[in-house]
Amino acid sequence: MIENDDFNINYEKSLQYWADIPPTVDGVLGGFGFISSADIEGSEMFLKTLLTSNTPPSTNTALDCGAGIGRITKQLLIPHFKTVDVVEPDEKFINAIKEYVGEHQSKLGTLFKVSLQEFKPVRKYDVIWNQWVLGYLTDDDLEAYLIRCRDSLSENGIIVVKENVTSSGRSEKDTTDSSVTRSFKQYIKIFKKCLLKRIKQCKQANFPNGIYPVYMFALVPNYKDIEKTNKGNCALNS
Ligand SMILES: C[S@@+](CC[C@H](N)C(=O)[O-])C[C@H]1O[C@@H](n2cnc3c(N)ncnc32)[C@H](O)[C@@H]1O
Repeated sequence: MIENDDFNINYEKSLQYWADIPPTVDGVLGGFGFISSADIEGSEMFLKTLLTSNTPPSTNTALDCGAGIGRITKQLLIPHFKTVDVVEPDEKFINAIKEYVGEHQSKLGTLFKVSLQEFKPVRKYDVIWNQWVLGYLTDDDLEAYLIRCRDSLSENGIIVVKENVTSSGRSEKDTTDSSVTRSFKQYIKIFKKCLLKRIKQCKQANFPNGIYPVYMFALVPNYKDIEKTNKGNCALNS
């Protein structure tokens, strides 16, 4: 692991890395399959507080981004939503999703075999769940992607980001899978830039020592600032 600030991410290299990983929970969690139940438990508590808030999102359609074999789709999203769409570029993972989800596979919606930097969601999502995947995108692509997600939310829709963050306060590059682990501050800066407002955040509990801290963020469009920006654009164009 080396520290690096240039986000020199190589998309082909990360796809190649995942192409060699078996389609199992342990595989998608990089050998940390044993943390899956604590992870889902933390996510479940977080999601429940969002769904029982004063202005909850609907529970029609969720989107699981960088879904792997559908671990989150099956264990977290399907129990709460009528339909779950997934985005996953790796062919072997996406082909494994139906079987992994098993008896509730009728709730699976569209399976998009595409990378997030190319994905253009249509406007219908109540919750968009991004977990352990945003480190594969460059800053520029991440910002453009989050803006597309923001604009694809239904009324009261929420984007959830659940990611590792560094303790050093700086980003750290992983050359094995060509990913970057960002700091807490860097995520906050990116969310602000994308005109996304944090309505809830929480540190994942009950994870083993020695791994990165993991944070969950619930983000909604910051309509006040979006409006200001749009007005600004009109003024410039008129
Ligand atoms: C650490 S796994 C996490 C899988 C799933 N989110 C989970 O928590 O079980 C990372 C996943 O991101 C996918 N991935 C890698 N680069 C991606 C990209 N640019 N766009 C979308 N998905 C990507 C990989 O194929 C892999 O399925």
